[in-house]
Amino acid sequence: MVNEVSIRKILVAVDGSAPSENAVGYAARLAEVVKAEVLLMHVIEDIKMGGAIGLQAKYGNISLVEGYNRARKESALQWMALLEAKARDKKVKAKSEILYDTSNSVTGTVVDYAKRNNVDLIVVGTRGHSKFKQLLVGSVASGVSQHAHCPVLVVR
Ligand SMILES: Nc1ncnc2c1ncn2[C@@H]1O[C@H](COP(=O)(O)OP(=O)(O)OP(=O)(O)O)[C@@H](O)[C@H]1O
Ligand SMILES: [Mg+2]
Repeated sequence: MVNEVSIRKILVAVDGSAPSENAVGYAARLAEVVKAEVLLMHVIEDIKMGGAIGLQAKYGNISLVEGYNRARKESALQWMALLEAKARDKKVKAKSEILYDTSNSVTGTVVDYAKRNNVDLIVVGTRGHSKFKQLLVGSVASGVSQHAHCPVLVVR
């Protein structure tokens, strides 16, 4: 039984997709109402070892891999700045962080980050960028809901 509900820190996991943008909108509005702060975080996924760049990572040419990661980070910085501005529009305190996925699991990186930062609520979109739409919610949304230490809100 929960006696007290305190929402001070709301974490939104973002991947640049439309549902995750909706998640930011919802979280920002909620933060405005309950006077919470919003943390936006994006996990840059490990390069899959099957692809050409993956082969380079495995067999050499690290600079290509580093360049690719840097490009992904620069692109994420740009769209995250727009999302952060969306939260700030609501006069909500907001900050962004980009993490490289070191554990080979976006879900793990999100739930660890949430716990380390004493987050009270995690907000995610139902879906992300995947083209396989047969599941109602994506694997990150589902995994975070299952493994987070705190409540998770899944936004359509
Ligand atoms: N790399 C990521 N970093 C941070 N949050 C993410 C990341 N990927 C997904 N999310 C969050 O999870 C939500 C659901 O995306 P998810 O990846 O689970 O679905 P999908 O891409 O449609 O399917 P899947 O990736 O399982 O094939 C997104 O709207 C976003 O909130
Ligand atoms: Mg995805």
